[in-house]
Amino acid sequence: MSHRHLHALGALGRSRNPRVFLDLAGPAVRGLLLKKGKQGSVAQIPARHQAHFDWAYERNRPELRKLYDAAKRSQWDAATALDWSTQVDPYDDSRELMPEHGLPLQDLPSYRSLPRRRQLEHRAALTAWLLSQFLHGEQGALFAACQVTEAVQWMDGKLYGATQVVDEARHVEVFHRYLDEKLNKRYEINDNLYTIIDALMTDGRWDLKFLGMQIMIEGLALGAFQTIRHQTSEPLLKEMLKYVITDEARHVTFGVVALRDYYAAMPEKDRRDREDWAYEISVLLRNRFLAHEFYDEYYAHCMSRREWNATVLRSDFMGRFRNTLFRRLIPNLKRIHLLSDRVRPHYDALGLLEFEHGKPSNELGVPDLLECDPADAEATLMHV
Ligand SMILES: [Fe+2]
Ligand SMILES: [Fe+2]
Repeated sequence: MSHRHLHALGALGRSRNPRVFLDLAGPAVRGLLLKKGKQGSVAQIPARHQAHFDWAYERNRPELRKLYDAAKRSQWDAATALDWSTQVDPYDDSRELMPEHGLPLQDLPSYRSLPRRRQLEHRAALTAWLLSQFLHGEQGALFAACQVTEAVQWMDGKLYGATQVVDEARHVEVFHRYLDEKLNKRYEINDNLYTIIDALMTDGRWDLKFLGMQIMIEGLALGAFQTIRHQTSEPLLKEMLKYVITDEARHVTFGVVALRDYYAAMPEKDRRDREDWAYEISVLLRNRFLAHEFYDEYYAHCMSRREWNATVLRSDFMGRFRNTLFRRLIPNLKRIHLLSDRVRPHYDALGLLEFEHGKPSNELGVPDLLECDPADAEATLMHV
């Protein structure tokens, strides 16, 4: 086991909760050490949850019912809603794919010394890396939504979950098509992302699937999509993200509505494990955006991984990324009762508690579906 591998596993266990450490050790070994996400073009992940059947068909969750109705009205066809004939040219300055300040490259001397055309090539490749991680995350979301639809105990939740399954299929479709037809490049899944997906797919407890996917990964994705949508001048990507964001806003709402009452009523010991699990996943999520797959291709020959990490970590990009992630996550964790005085110091040590009193969604123009009618919110967003 190399020093780097030990260091990777060292990211675990910060909560000092042995049960949570054991829950995450298997996924971390498979994802970070064995690199299961990079073993060829397929991966098999065993599932252990119970499919919950309900022969009473009682519709007793009005908030979820409203969300289901909004989701049915908001379906879109990726093949016709977007103009796929748009020419995407990473070398076209008038339709910049990603501005330099939107990526962590400008602090690298070896990037700055490149001719302009090569710089644009690096920017396009790093954008492809980001979108590839979104694509892999969407595949995880598709299967997590399937599992959640089986495992959740409320009929309104199952019906809503079915709409999320088709939403996620559409997201896989658009990210794959954009990468395949427009950027002609796709990167493998990042080890940290694989570890998180493995952890929530293999855990039998339905609420951890919700917590990991709906609150954490989707909350992060929503912020990242919105940031890129504001920064890109490429019209197809901008439009595509607008559509995806309208769906994701519903998904995060589903997670909050489903978990809020469940965690409020949960015995203290079990709720603590969820708190610590969420904290450990936060640390993994934070590590996810170091773009090592891109580094291996373009920078491994001229700088060490340690130098790369240091540069990316102190870049404006990383600062903005962390803001995006935690500005959304921290208030949502509070809403579902997973930000007790016991774990607040952990987040404080990461400099994240400043987001505690923020609104989780609308700072970037994403309507907060818990505070307005989901149908109105989406109508508003579509015209932003
Ligand atoms: Fe999605
Ligand atoms: Fe989603």
